[in-house]
Amino acid sequence: MKKIAFLVGLLLFIISAAFAGTGVKKRRPLPFEYGRVVIDNYAKENHLAPAVFDHWLHRSMYTCRLCHVDIGFAMKANETGIRASDNEKGYYCGSCHNGKDAFSACKESFDREDFVICSLCHAEGENVPRSYDFREFVKGFPKGWLGNGVDWDKAEEQGKISLVDYLEGISIKRAKFVEPEDFELKSQVLSMPDIKFSHRKHTVWNGCEVCHPEIFVGIKKGMTKFSMADLYEGKYCGVCHNSVAFPLLECQRCHREKVQ
Ligand code: HEC
Ligand code: HEC
Ligand code: HEC
Ligand code: HEC
Ligand code: HEC
Ligand code: HEC
Repeated sequence: MKKIAFLVGLLLFIISAAFAGTGVKKRRPLPFEYGRVVIDNYAKENHLAPAVFDHWLHRSMYTCRLCHVDIGFAMKANETGIRASDNEKGYYCGSCHNGKDAFSACKESFDREDFVICSLCHAEGENVPRSYDFREFVKGFPKGWLGNGVDWDKAEEQGKISLVDYLEGISIKRAKFVEPEDFELKSQVLSMPDIKFSHRKHTVWNGCEVCHPEIFVGIKKGMTKFSMADLYEGKYCGVCHNSVAFPLLECQRCHREKVQ
């Protein structure tokens, strides 16, 4: 009986995920496309290709917190409103793409040679050769199932990647927070295993400030009420687990028995 309820639930979620409110079936992103953001508020109207940002490459070098708190990128595609002049002054992409830490970003005046660099980012719809090939890059990483097909958690734990969480001149030194306990969220449906949530593992990537207080109030466990449907709408856990961290279709990674 439990198994049937689970399977029916699974089917409904897969259907709602595939159609995501539009009634048109969305193709599931390929591993290298998962977490890709195409940024297009101003580029096209300035006769440039929209900018392409790949999470797989950047998250293998930096924490989510560094970009989404210290640098201040919004957690929704196109919401930051990045301007060429911001980048040129060393904000947003220009925090790193400054010609020292990484190739430089937008410039008001540029020549033909510079343009090769422009097109590394202004790449949507263009056939630009990249220095980083996804398949080569993730070759030695522990395998995951969906999303990027990489188990990012293990990759970090095994030291395959080491994450920078501080940028000189941009980040401020923070006091170390005491990590609260890992916990389980009770599933309201008997047939579903409870949900595991590890503060420790999430803090590695997100510090505290990515989640508290904007996504979860975080004063007392159980204060924020949410359901699976909210997650599919991109709220709560679904802010990250629908687009960058492993996707919601990997039910068993959250719905499992005990917190180890
Ligand atoms: C190098 C900087 C950088 C890092 C590291 C980074 N992000 Fe992002 N993220 C961005 C940018 C840039 C955007 C797009 C913002 C915009 O378009 O305004 C974005 C967008 C997002 C979005 C919205 C995606 C969408 O399709 O709407 C989510 C969710 C997100 N990031 C989560 C994460 C998580 C989780 C991590 C860590 C595993 C992470 N990010 C690491 C820069 C970064
Ligand atoms: C926290 C630092 C940081 C931020 C912020 C950042 N990047 Fe990067 N990015 C890097 C580094 C480091 C590399 C590797 C550069 C190299 O090897 O020359 C890189 C590489 C890239 C590449 C790969 C090019 C290739 O040849 O494969 C693209 C494209 C890119 N970034 C786009 C962006 C865009 C667009 C933004 C802003 C929306 C952005 N990055 C913000 C650090 C950053
Ligand atoms: C590291 C990535 C990166 C590189 C390299 C880069 N840009 Fe940009 N650029 C962006 C992003 C992100 C935006 C915002 C795109 C949008 O919202 O349409 C942008 C926007 C622009 C815009 C839109 C107008 C405006 O006011 O914002 C212009 C023009 C521009 N860039 C010019 C250039 C030129 C010229 C070069 C090469 C010299 C260049 N960019 C290289 C990331 C980059
Ligand atoms: C990925 C998101 C995420 C991150 C990162 C995170 N938390 Fe939480 N936190 C939660 C969730 C989910 C809850 C429980 C739901 C709620 O807020 O009602 C919670 C609850 C809490 C609580 C209440 C615990 C209780 O037993 O009542 C405290 C205190 C807390 N968090 C502090 C922190 C601190 C300090 C950090 C950084 C070291 C941190 N959190 C990082 C998601 C997060
Ligand atoms: C990122 C973690 C995560 C993933 C992945 C996930 N869930 Fe959930 N699920 C939750 C959370 C959190 C709740 C809400 C628990 C609560 O009530 O506090 C929940 C609740 C549920 C419930 C209880 C009723 C409801 O709607 O809230 C069902 C049924 C459920 N999930 C089914 C699934 C199925 C089927 C999948 C795979 C397609 C899945 N979940 C994937 C975290 C997850
Ligand atoms: C701010 C972004 C963010 C939010 C919000 C978030 N996660 Fe995660 N979570 C991550 C990232 C990043 C990882 C690393 C693995 C990956 O990227 O696939 C991760 C890993 C996990 C893992 C695997 C690690 C482990 O403990 O074994 C579980 C399970 C998980 N999340 C459940 C949840 C649940 C349940 C919630 C909501 C209560 C939630 N997450 C909210 C970003 C987030």
